Amino acid sequence: MIRLLPGAGKHVTLIPNEWSVGKLVTMTTTHAAEAPPPHAPDGLQEHFDATIARDQRIEPRDWMPDGYRKTLIRQIAQHAHSEIIGMQPEGEWITRAPSLRRKAILFAKVQDEAGHGLYLYSAAETLGADRDDLTRRLIEGRQKYSSIFNYPTLSFADVGVIGWFVDGAAICNQVPLCRSSYGPYARAMVRICKEESFHQRQGYELLMTMMRGTAAQREMVQDAVNRWWWPSLMMFGPPDDASPNSARSMAWKIKRHSNDELRRRFVDMTVPQAEKLGVTLPDPELRWNEETGHHDFGTPDWDELMRVIKGDGPCNDRRMERRRTAHEEGAWVREAATAHAAKQAARARKGAAA
Ligand SMILES: [Fe+2]
Ligand SMILES: [Fe+2]
Repeated sequence: MIRLLPGAGKHVTLIPNEWSVGKLVTMTTTHAAEAPPPHAPDGLQEHFDATIARDQRIEPRDWMPDGYRKTLIRQIAQHAHSEIIGMQPEGEWITRAPSLRRKAILFAKVQDEAGHGLYLYSAAETLGADRDDLTRRLIEGRQKYSSIFNYPTLSFADVGVIGWFVDGAAICNQVPLCRSSYGPYARAMVRICKEESFHQRQGYELLMTMMRGTAAQREMVQDAVNRWWWPSLMMFGPPDDASPNSARSMAWKIKRHSNDELRRRFVDMTVPQAEKLGVTLPDPELRWNEETGHHDFGTPDWDELMRVIKGDGPCNDRRMERRRTAHEEGAWVREAATAHAAKQAARARKGAAA
């Protein structure tokens, strides 16, 4: 499936053919008739290994090694936190959107991100994680979220560039996760990726509108591109030789491509879109390499990435403070929901006894 932007011309592909979300859900579950029982008294590790080797899925009721469970909980929680924290940079522009149409689009997009966070917390719960505990870990700084959300949104063009770059990078990262070996994570990704594709397109469409506007608007777009390009490349994580957990995640088929592969894929996908839009990507080393069939590009500032991950980015404190306040202010909602659920359960018990 090739998705084209309305009016963008026929050569701008937002999601490449072979990465199309719709074609990805081809894995079967582990419970085919010929499979040994999942809770066999021995041979559990062998059964797990064979399931992974056959490209079948591990489901919550299956035995799995501790390391696999912990890696997944860490990755899914970090992903969920990123969706929720990711509502903030763009959310700041909802009340300042320049028209009702832009406000409605942005509002829907930010709301989608909240939904993504909730699917993912639910997926983590199927592994035995507790949502409250995950939230506490985030708030106490013991679990991370994507470094990209620690940068400020200085103009409305940032909303467009985030959709184009950040949601575009999320698509590159997440489409292969639709084939992740853990069933609930893979299934959550299918829906999330469809929505990310809308996010990317609304961002690109907003930028095309601005590029057709005044010189000042075009400058705003170029400025936002300059500020977001390198942090977006950093979203794929450190280079492969400095990413110690990657190999194990790939062996378990949680992850399907290395950080550097995905980064290159993103660059290849984005360069023609930038040309079509009429903006310059801020990298003097960026050029097409006939031999490799990919773009060559410069090296992101990895020290900056490490600084931001460790909490020293431009907006880390602001994001965490906002999240903490939202959690505290939402305490009454959680209490009310718990009281309501208890009342419902008591009613159901009374009904069953009658
Ligand atoms: Fe999302
Ligand atoms: Fe998104």
